[in-house]
Amino acid sequence: MRVVFFLLFSLLLLSGVVSPLRDIPHSSCSSKLHEHQHMNSSGVHFTLHHPRGPCSPASLQELSFSDVLQHDVLRVSGLTSRLTTTKHRHRHRASSLATNHPSLVSVPLTPGSSLGVGNYITKIGLGTPASYFSMVVDTGSSLTWLQCSPCRISCHDQSGPLFDPSASSTYHSVPCSSAECSGLQSATLNPSACSSSHVCIYEASYGDSSFSVGYLSKDTLTIGSSPALSGFTYGCGQDNEGLFGHSAGLIGLAKDKLSLLSQLAPKLGNAFSYCLPTMSSTGSLSIGSYDPSHFVFTPLVKSSLDNSLYFVKLSGIKVGGKVLSVPASTYSDTPTIIDSGTVITRLPPDVYTELSSAVSNALSKYPSAPAYSLLDTCFKGSAAGLAAPEVVVVFEGGAEWNLATRNVFIDVDDGTTCLAFASAGRVAIIGNRLQQTFKVVYDVANSKLGFAAGGCG
Ligand SMILES: *[C@@H]1O[C@H](CO)[C@@H](O)[C@H](O)[C@H]1NC(C)=O
Repeated sequence: MRVVFFLLFSLLLLSGVVSPLRDIPHSSCSSKLHEHQHMNSSGVHFTLHHPRGPCSPASLQELSFSDVLQHDVLRVSGLTSRLTTTKHRHRHRASSLATNHPSLVSVPLTPGSSLGVGNYITKIGLGTPASYFSMVVDTGSSLTWLQCSPCRISCHDQSGPLFDPSASSTYHSVPCSSAECSGLQSATLNPSACSSSHVCIYEASYGDSSFSVGYLSKDTLTIGSSPALSGFTYGCGQDNEGLFGHSAGLIGLAKDKLSLLSQLAPKLGNAFSYCLPTMSSTGSLSIGSYDPSHFVFTPLVKSSLDNSLYFVKLSGIKVGGKVLSVPASTYSDTPTIIDSGTVITRLPPDVYTELSSAVSNALSKYPSAPAYSLLDTCFKGSAAGLAAPEVVVVFEGGAEWNLATRNVFIDVDDGTTCLAFASAGRVAIIGNRLQQTFKVVYDVANSKLGFAAGGCG
């Protein structure tokens, strides 16, 4: 069992847009970038931090950009296998916690497997009196969990003290017989287990071998200084392994009824919006009602593959005003999700090939550069200095997402910039580099996704 360090229990949830190291404007946090969490009549509002930004309360600044891309590959293979293979699990760690044999449970992870890397960070308060924690925000999973003391098996190094249930007058563990416990199978895709004292045990796993196992619990959720929800259901993690940065845990914003979104929805409305910031700016996350006037919308579609992820339909891509010549079926045959935690957008292979060649043609005056990790369309220069063609992603219903050059290219080192897209496996993913600085609204109540330029700060 590892020594656990102090942590702030902030929620850090946003998919991280990765910027090259040279984009970091300063290594210390500007005082202007203040934490801001509050609740008002339109909903709850959080500050969002880039996962590697200097103001992130649980920063992953030590990670190199090539590491980030490696993590991105793991996240995508986890999501893809979740959606395309028959569900099976090698073993259930939850039942191991139930039998109280920690040594049988602890599986050391290679430092590399994890989901926290590309995800944005925010803070929430939990318990009475409230303590505050930095959390990863994730649209790709539903259950919210954080590391809890006494950490029976393993906790990662978090930035601030662990949540201590015994110090909260409103903490309750959730019994095995409860509806919430039965709901874990759909929320986590893993069965629950039961402790000898009949407390429900959850297992949240992330396809890439990172996981959290612990006691299903309820306590008061606080946003800013306002209690936002009493009896908020979350996981009190006793065995948390993977690369979650220095965050205390994870906020699940997928659609399952145990997610933070679904639990707040009866009170605030079933919608959330965010603006994923660059490393040097601050973003926001709001849950609740929103003003639809500035957004363009495309349907959020149902998929037989999964009930909790956010599926959309692509219908085309334009480069410099010209639609890529690929048959419509190339888009419709590949299920597509929008995800806050995947950095690089993955396109159906034939679409990616066409995009890459259209961009290369438009940039033929720039010397090409070798591939960098999964990015294979690279040029000498920087994103800011390229006279790049306009790229527009078109969604079902005709909604057009007009990308800025910084959404399309990513500087991988001094002097090289690459197209921030790659070829998908069986699932296409709208990643967070593409979304960065746009306001994106997930209107789950009305099954539509909206986006608008200029959403951050
Ligand atoms: C609530 O707060 C948000 C974020 O600070 C703000 O944009 C919004 O206008 C506020 N809504 C109301 C009704 O005060």
